[in-house]
Amino acid sequence: MSDPGPTSVRDFEAIAMTSVGRMAFDYYAGGSDDEITLFENTAAWGRARLLYRVLADVAERSTRCTVLGHELSMPVMAAPTAFHRMAHDEGELATVRATNGAGTAMILSSLSTVDVEEVLEAATGPVFFQLYLYRDRQISRELIERVTAAGCSAIILTVDTPLLGNRERDVRNRFQLPEGISVRNLTARGPLECTSDGGSGLARFVQDHQDPGLRWEHLAWLREISDLPIVLKGICRRDDATRAFDEGASAIVVSNHGGRQLDTSPATFDVLPGICEAVAGRGEVWVDGGIRRGTDVIKALACGATATLIGRPVLWGLAADGQQGVEQVWKIMAEELDLAMALAGCRDVHEITRDLVQLVGEQPGA
Ligand SMILES: Cc1cc2nc3c(=O)[nH]c(=O)nc-3n(C[C@H](O)[C@H](O)[C@H](O)COP(=O)(O)O)c2cc1C
Repeated sequence: MSDPGPTSVRDFEAIAMTSVGRMAFDYYAGGSDDEITLFENTAAWGRARLLYRVLADVAERSTRCTVLGHELSMPVMAAPTAFHRMAHDEGELATVRATNGAGTAMILSSLSTVDVEEVLEAATGPVFFQLYLYRDRQISRELIERVTAAGCSAIILTVDTPLLGNRERDVRNRFQLPEGISVRNLTARGPLECTSDGGSGLARFVQDHQDPGLRWEHLAWLREISDLPIVLKGICRRDDATRAFDEGASAIVVSNHGGRQLDTSPATFDVLPGICEAVAGRGEVWVDGGIRRGTDVIKALACGATATLIGRPVLWGLAADGQQGVEQVWKIMAEELDLAMALAGCRDVHEITRDLVQLVGEQPGA
């Protein structure tokens, strides 16, 4: 009998392991310190239970949703992840073609290995730009002008990375970018190299360029120089979530950077319900970290999220089979979400309500 190929997005990880080198695999897979948050992110989704509805006429269903005014095929987008050309030669070009082709949005990382202009030329749907703020504000301003001119339609400011987390796998591997691959969009002034001086080349790179002095006040500066919607990525507390909307953010991403920053910070799903409650509909709440199944997406939406992001699964698809691999990842996510919605008794995303999910220690709400 022939091998049916990957049947879940997790299957792509095993394929990726054999198709990229050790340094790249560890960089993609790893977390910080003891990788406790990395593990917990996935485990937390599995702890909640789904209280499905019956006899709900799910003959016709739609997974469509709206994010920042863009209509998407499903409430799952591509999280910003660095260095796609380490996984496949076409890098971010393959990712954007597959992601927009699946009808959803891609968040392009500041650490992309393809120029933002090229990515936007290949795009057929929304692309948002993930920004780190640099010590030299002029460089940040030029970069924002550059990505706006290229056609990015939102700025996703990552706020959980004043310094890089302690990713021991990268230190041990003396992580650096392979020859011929450089960071294309960190500035508007040309590509930058990322080389090791004995430890993690990335940690040194971040230390050299990013501004650890970032404060809430800097958001006003950002809003002054850009008309694009601003999304704060990396929120794990209720007070920071509400402050983000006080300061004019259009959305937040409940995220711990995929367990790559502060280890033992909580799993995103464990803090999501409280944050959504505190935000009380003032803006969109997105969430990422360990989302691997259609049922995870339902749980996120039931607790109040507008949308979810996946990081590593896209990289695994890319490493396994370039654009086609990413297409397959999106196909599996879309099919799983559709099936999970049908089995839960939901015809569209608005029917995914809080009573569908039972958190640990909770009595069934329905
Ligand atoms: C290899 C890798 C690179 C990443 N690069 C970035 C980045 O450049 N900017 C950023 O804001 N987040 C980055 N992240 C974090 C992701 O955007 C996202 O928060 C995380 O991957 C979600 O968790 P998941 O991988 O379990 O889906 C990266 C994550 C991974 C795994």
